[in-house]
Amino acid sequence: MATTKPLTPFPPQEKYRVLILGCGNSTFGHDMIQDGFGHITNVDFSSTVIEQMKTKYSGFSDFMNFVCVDVTKGLPFESKSFDLIICKGTFDALLTSAGSIANAKFVVSECSRVLANGHGVLFLVSYGNPDSRVVFLERDNDLSYYWQEVSIHTVSRRSAGSAKNDYVYVCSKRLEDVPFLKGPQASSCQTMDRETSTTEMPLMNSTARVE
Ligand SMILES: C[S@@+](CC[C@H](N)C(=O)[O-])C[C@H]1O[C@@H](n2cnc3c(N)ncnc32)[C@H](O)[C@@H]1O
Repeated sequence: MATTKPLTPFPPQEKYRVLILGCGNSTFGHDMIQDGFGHITNVDFSSTVIEQMKTKYSGFSDFMNFVCVDVTKGLPFESKSFDLIICKGTFDALLTSAGSIANAKFVVSECSRVLANGHGVLFLVSYGNPDSRVVFLERDNDLSYYWQEVSIHTVSRRSAGSAKNDYVYVCSKRLEDVPFLKGPQASSCQTMDRETSTTEMPLMNSTARVE
């Protein structure tokens, strides 16, 4: 895809509205607050994790909230209400459970829906290479349906002594409104944690820019 500039300006960093999908017990959100980012909404479908994180970061409630959400049932947020979505490892987890292809496509549609048009960015960190992941960012084989630009960055896992790579998919939402996928109603959270594994998806073609 051609490189384009944001069509609407990003707010200043301290005003970013950030959504972290599948926050787990990661310090990522708190680290972002320390780095001066704005408000962070953290979601996960594990009620245990959400309660632990609420307790751990109770002193940061002005900056962060934690909500129990199964993202495959929809994101319980207004359209265009976030500037940045971070999904680190969660997409990979989604792709290991029943109904994974439809779920993954619906989650991408929901991410696009809740991002601000023209500058909202989905920052997807995955072990899945572009052949196995870009297909989920598309709609009807069209990567530009939701996104004005998708750039893909390869991150070597050298520090872990592994030959494998991770990939960062930076997806900038397009300016125009498009119809989004309809899914089940937003859910309550899981009372028991689901198990996840690390199954790789089949290879597919893509047209995204890989750097
Ligand atoms: C691999 S962990 C990544 C956690 C965190 N993002 C990190 O980087 O350390 C995946 C997380 O996604 C959550 N998760 C998996 N499926 C989910 C779903 N359907 N809805 C919400 N969260 C989900 C899991 O509970 C888990 O915390």
